Amino acid sequence: AEKGLKDYYKNYFPVGVAVSPHSLTDPTESAFILKQFNSLTPENVMKMGPIHPEQNRYVWGPSDAIVNFAQAHHLRVRGHNLCWHEQTPKWLFVNADGSRVSKDTLLHRLHQHIDAVVKRYKGKIYAWDVVNEAIADNPQEFLRNSEWYQICGPDFIAEAFRYAHAADPQAVLFYNDYNTERPEKMERVYKLLKQLKDAQVPIDAVGLQGHWSLYEPTETELRTTIERFASLGLQVQVTELDVSVYPWEKDRRAKRPGESDAYTPEMQQKQAAQYGMFFKVFRDEAKAGRLTGVTFWNVSDHYSWLDTYPVAGRKNHPLLFDENYKPKQAYHDVVKF
Ligand code: XIL
Repeated sequence: AEKGLKDYYKNYFPVGVAVSPHSLTDPTESAFILKQFNSLTPENVMKMGPIHPEQNRYVWGPSDAIVNFAQAHHLRVRGHNLCWHEQTPKWLFVNADGSRVSKDTLLHRLHQHIDAVVKRYKGKIYAWDVVNEAIADNPQEFLRNSEWYQICGPDFIAEAFRYAHAADPQAVLFYNDYNTERPEKMERVYKLLKQLKDAQVPIDAVGLQGHWSLYEPTETELRTTIERFASLGLQVQVTELDVSVYPWEKDRRAKRPGESDAYTPEMQQKQAAQYGMFFKVFRDEAKAGRLTGVTFWNVSDHYSWLDTYPVAGRKNHPLLFDENYKPKQAYHDVVKF
């Protein structure tokens, strides 16, 4: 059979993809996934809102479907995620009378949640994004002023790792975040990771989400970030890779009538060069023992979360395969080495 990404990279790292359960029941899509990838991340269904919508009710079906598919086909699974400020269930931060919960209550709820989810998939999920995006967007601030932080202060982060480790001591536990290659953010993520390591919190790894673009990061930024985090004794993975053809932040408005959203040959070439550079760095860092996995955030340009984020109405083309699942120039540059 023809080779896929997972075969080209078999001596380097597993190559994963974020999926929804419906991708795995569609015969064409699931065959494509099995050809290219050997690791899965649930794109949404394991997040706390979807999987734990009421205090005494878990929705296991969609999540089980992904884990069962992975078991049947010998794929790895990265669990995503246990503690995040988005996609939280309505009940989480409030008491029955509508008042805000105490720190003790919230940590108890977090403990119950992590215990239930991690134990259910013990031995089947090898790595967990335990805490996602806890650093503030404002470079002047350190931790994000989320409801977690407002109620618990910084302690929820260390506690989440302790709960996850107690539930499955074998699981590789990650802190996961975006824009980690921007020097100011890298410093703040490093500071958090160092605090956790110094306090002997059971953290094993750091996830660079990898929501990158034609314009960033640079090769130096990427290598520096991986090497700096690895110097703390942590594994590094790229957990949500895509390469937006639009600049992040510089263009957060919707396409205006008459405005072009053409995916030009220049964009395609620049994207291929970016992807080629990234994977060269990944191979080097894997050989040096620092990088242990790369996961794409969606399968092909047929569907990307970036089509509707940060604004709807402008198609993006951030992946290695086009809307018809045909390999793009970027794919060829990634597998040619
Ligand atoms: C995104 C999903 O892809 C979307 O379908 C959903 O509407 C919002 O979340 N960082 C993360 C992921 O850690 O969980 C996010 O996934 C993308 C950004």
